[in-house]
Amino acid sequence: MFDGVGDDALTALETVRTRFREVNGEHPMTAADEAHVREHFTPLPPEQLPDIAAGRLPLPSYLLADGTPMVADLGDVIGAAGGVEHLHDWFVEFWPDDPTTVEAEWDTFMAGHHVCLRTVDPVSIRQVTRMVEQARAAVAVLRDDPRDELAQGSLGEAVDGGVGVTGLDGLVLPTTAYDRLRFGGPSIRDLWVDAVRAEFHRPQPPQLPIRTERLTLRRTLPEDAAVRAKAWADPGFVEYLLLPEQNLAEVTFDTFRRSGPDAPDEPHTGLGLMMVHEGTPIGNVVLFYDGADRTCLEIGWTLFPWAAGRGFATEAARVAMALAFEHYGVRRVVANLDAANERSAAMCERLGMRREAHKLADFWSKGRWTDSYEYAILREEWEAKRSDVQV
Ligand SMILES: CC(C)(COP(=O)(O)OP(=O)(O)OC[C@H]1O[C@@H](n2cnc3c(N)ncnc32)[C@H](O)[C@@H]1OP(=O)(O)O)[C@@H](O)C(=O)NCCC(=O)NCCS
Repeated sequence: MFDGVGDDALTALETVRTRFREVNGEHPMTAADEAHVREHFTPLPPEQLPDIAAGRLPLPSYLLADGTPMVADLGDVIGAAGGVEHLHDWFVEFWPDDPTTVEAEWDTFMAGHHVCLRTVDPVSIRQVTRMVEQARAAVAVLRDDPRDELAQGSLGEAVDGGVGVTGLDGLVLPTTAYDRLRFGGPSIRDLWVDAVRAEFHRPQPPQLPIRTERLTLRRTLPEDAAVRAKAWADPGFVEYLLLPEQNLAEVTFDTFRRSGPDAPDEPHTGLGLMMVHEGTPIGNVVLFYDGADRTCLEIGWTLFPWAAGRGFATEAARVAMALAFEHYGVRRVVANLDAANERSAAMCERLGMRREAHKLADFWSKGRWTDSYEYAILREEWEAKRSDVQV
């Protein structure tokens, strides 16, 4: 990239590389590290070289094995500051009451060390600091009482984000082995995303199959495709589902995916169960996380038309609800449905869920703007109402 440039540029480039090695030491970059860096950083733009060499812009974040300096994209930051010469004064205004912190933050920024950030700017830096502090406080509470719901909410927001709030998972990049070496330890993602999830988000998937009075609940198997396809060919069955009718090939492929080794990463995505009555599949009940929120599961059900009206779906859903609270430890279970789906709304009522919302024309389905209901039940409501389902 610096081919054909003059001696000044080559000298500046060597200055930058030497400075980089002084600041970061000499550590190996694995092939995976290089791939990560190429994906998330850009080769140093030649026009920035003089400013970097002169210490007016941050040092590169990485040096690739071929010596290419790689930098974070600072285009917005330099533009908003009104040019490189105003960068320091613009940056420090984000910490107006905190001169000690700001100089440390500026030094880290100028060293090119904010490599964990998806976007390097003062707002993201402050947000990561805030979210790490929030996570730290929540973890301290949860180590005493893992069921403290305020701390769960606070930790959930810090790690996964919430309404209008980006959590650490969205703010920080995966970690390279190289960074663990040069910074001498685990990264923010290691400590405050991965380790926190491993410690506090530990769904306990049930032993399958589960047997109820009349049903066996088990995983989907490839041989379920034919019977599922019969249901999915029925326009009445799909009337209130998001998908239209599916042909045999489509259902067979979907069944293969649900049952194969590449099935969704349960238990971190939720749980899918096939209801089987007298050896024949008759429907599904599913639990899946409601967005990033790990304290809430959404429940869903489909009963094949020939098995309707006998209470099978409710029998299976009661088990799924108990699993959600007892095995997945959530504090809330929700169901979203087409408001015209009276059978499904009746299911929610039988399960003791409350209708929390009737949204008017809020989603487009099957050629029309459609009303929807949201039903929900909190843990304490379920504990007060629960029937004797043992899972
Ligand atoms: C939604 C759906 C699962 C409801 O099915 P369902 O048959 O009404 O539900 P259940 O299996 O729990 O059966 C309950 C009915 O069986 C009756 N029943 C008969 N014998 C029973 C028994 N031994 N125990 C309990 N209920 C019994 C109940 O009285 C009830 O009937 P009612 O509503 O007329 O009073 C089903 O309509 C369906 O899958 N539809 C297509 C897919 C779909 O829309 N899914 C939902 C998307 S949000």
